[in-house]
Amino acid sequence: MPDETAQNAPALFDLTGRVALVTGAGSGIGQRIAVGLAQCGADVALLDRRTDGGVADTARAVEAAGRAALTLEADVTSQDALTEAVARTQAKLGPLTLALNAAGIANAAPAEDMPEEQYQTLMDINMKGVWLSCRAEARAMIEHGQGGSIVNIASMSGVIVNRGLEQVHYNASKAGVIHMTKSMAMEWVGRGIRVNSISPGYTATPMNTRPEMVHQTKLFEEQTPMGRMAAVDEMIGPAVFLLSNAASYCTGVDLLVDGGFCCW
Ligand SMILES: NC(=O)c1ccc[n+]([C@@H]2O[C@H](COP(=O)([O-])OP(=O)(O)OC[C@H]3O[C@@H](n4cnc5c(N)ncnc54)[C@H](O)[C@@H]3O)[C@@H](O)[C@H]2O)c1
Repeated sequence: MPDETAQNAPALFDLTGRVALVTGAGSGIGQRIAVGLAQCGADVALLDRRTDGGVADTARAVEAAGRAALTLEADVTSQDALTEAVARTQAKLGPLTLALNAAGIANAAPAEDMPEEQYQTLMDINMKGVWLSCRAEARAMIEHGQGGSIVNIASMSGVIVNRGLEQVHYNASKAGVIHMTKSMAMEWVGRGIRVNSISPGYTATPMNTRPEMVHQTKLFEEQTPMGRMAAVDEMIGPAVFLLSNAASYCTGVDLLVDGGFCCW
């Protein structure tokens, strides 16, 4: 017998009136998810380290969806810059209750030859940057008392080792993001803050068109059970799900969105 008091299912995904912050909003996965959040009703603050080009396009798309956009130039390796970005978000848009952390970089070099600086720079952005972003966002959520939902973009590279890619630092950073997400989820579980991660498989973004990757595209497709890379838009649904009330009982989850890759 259906329960007539149950919530209307489509309303579970509705983000109307919510305020979101997206890092890495100038390109790729962060850009498309930011627009998806706006299409579900959220006003969105768009953070990237460069505000030329990409972020302005994202802002135009958010506004075309009828929502407010705020562009923020900040580097996720700076706690001060992130704290200021969250403060500006709340001053302009209202209490922050949604955050999607997608800023990240990728590069490759053999483990035995990789310069320490290359390792450290990537770890500072991909792993420490996620922690610093989550802290700035969670501090605001704790302070205003309404709680919130945070999603970090990890990678299937945090679960498997990509065949043929020499990226020890990247793989380690993503394994770190997955476990850091679970750790923060448990620290903040009593504060009304959910923290989850999405681990995309190979996704057709500018990250995968960098010179050392282009020749790999065919291989990626062959190695993926679904026989293709993900379109960037295919990350929107999982992000909306985890951020919205549809996932109200999910915290500390890593959602693989990999076309079946990790099954093989
Ligand atoms: N593309 C894929 O196949 C794939 C797969 C799994 C996971 N991911 C992850 O998804 C996330 C987004 O990747 P993408 O493919 O969309 O890449 P992308 O290069 O298209 O976008 C990344 C964005 O992050 C921004 N950024 C980088 N460093 C920053 C910093 N220090 N401070 C602020 N912003 C910064 C860049 O300017 C860029 O706009 C990354 O964390 C990446 O590791 C990507």
